[in-house]
Amino acid sequence: MSYICKIADEEEMNEKWDYEIKHASHSKENWIQWKKEFIENQKEGKQIPYYGILDGKIICEATASIDSSVVQNGDGLVSNCIAYLNGFRTIKGYQGKGYFSKLFWFMIQDLKQKGYQFVTLGVEPNEIKNMMIYFHYGFSEYLKSGMEFYPNGEEAFVLYYKKNLQDELFYLEEASIQRRDDVVEYMREHQRCHSSIHGSGSLDKILEGITYEECLEKIIKTKDFAYAKSIGRCPGMTYFLIRKNDNKLIGMINIRHHLSEDMLEHAGHIGYGIRPSERRKGYNKINLYLGLGKAKEMGLDSVELICDAGNNGSNKTIQALGGVLESSRVENDVLENVYWIDVSKSLDEYRDIYQDKIYQKK
Ligand SMILES: CC(C)(COP(=O)(O)OP(=O)(O)OC[C@H]1O[C@@H](n2cnc3c(N)ncnc32)[C@H](O)[C@@H]1OP(=O)(O)O)[C@@H](O)C(=O)NCCC(=O)NCCS
Repeated sequence: MSYICKIADEEEMNEKWDYEIKHASHSKENWIQWKKEFIENQKEGKQIPYYGILDGKIICEATASIDSSVVQNGDGLVSNCIAYLNGFRTIKGYQGKGYFSKLFWFMIQDLKQKGYQFVTLGVEPNEIKNMMIYFHYGFSEYLKSGMEFYPNGEEAFVLYYKKNLQDELFYLEEASIQRRDDVVEYMREHQRCHSSIHGSGSLDKILEGITYEECLEKIIKTKDFAYAKSIGRCPGMTYFLIRKNDNKLIGMINIRHHLSEDMLEHAGHIGYGIRPSERRKGYNKINLYLGLGKAKEMGLDSVELICDAGNNGSNKTIQALGGVLESSRVENDVLENVYWIDVSKSLDEYRDIYQDKIYQKK
């Protein structure tokens, strides 16, 4: 099976548009008009058509409009550094199989190489599934709303979003008072998504009515061995994973040193979490890589991580950083995996993968 992503030529465009016209269930006149306009625009360099072709058959497409004359409500949506994306389509039968995502990332790569720094798109508010996908692709900045008009006179209310194409950089920041509002929003997002919270050094207690200031004070004091011992905890540090590009709090990681017998048995050195809307983007691997750097600074040669065997994201994160499975056991009816990571070895081995994603503070 061969799947290729490419910029379409004229013959391919004709083939695809004729397919859409033939299969349009209503408003064929829209499609006939769009075909004419689209092929003209492409010839004039106003639009770039990207096609996904499986075994010679065009199965999905996306368009980048790069001239304001072809974008309705174009102000802020298209410029010499912003491309407006539209015409996302995958033929039925090929949807939900990852083909479109491959095409999408191919298009993004191509636009980046062409010098575009942002991409924008519009979505109707009732298209919930599409909205979720676009959010996942990183269209997180809401720009504006507007009415769009179709050739047959129909109109639609559209919301416009933006995605930044500049390389994303991350760093760990010590928990601080300055991040109060960000942390509250981070915790509320978990609550809305009914997601468990890990790695927050108990900052999640703000959801139970304890003030941020109180939680933070405890975190700061817990760095101290004597204080931590006095409240029956292990000394440790809580860090926030920050995405430099938009200064957003993405995740948290808690690193404990001088583990007590109990913590060695039940919790390990490291706990972490990523906010629900930012999961499955590889961010926790960056979180753990950065966390291993902190563990090294704390003098830890190897760290223990314990997670539920059913927590795929956590198991795969640990394995991706070279975690060695020491044992599996049942605790409170739950199967848990116990891993160890050799800190220096992991930092060396995976440097090439992560160093370009790390923001080095000047
Ligand atoms: C576990 C958690 C931190 C993972 O964060 P994440 O940012 O989604 O993880 P990443 O995107 O870096 O993914 C790491 C790996 O796990 C995989 N993965 C992530 N979520 C997954 C899921 N739900 N199912 C299957 N695989 C998953 C990724 O594909 C990736 O694998 P790869 O290296 O083969 O590509 C996140 O789901 C979370 O915060 N969960 C709640 C808190 C929690 O469970 N903490 C751990 C307690 S031990």
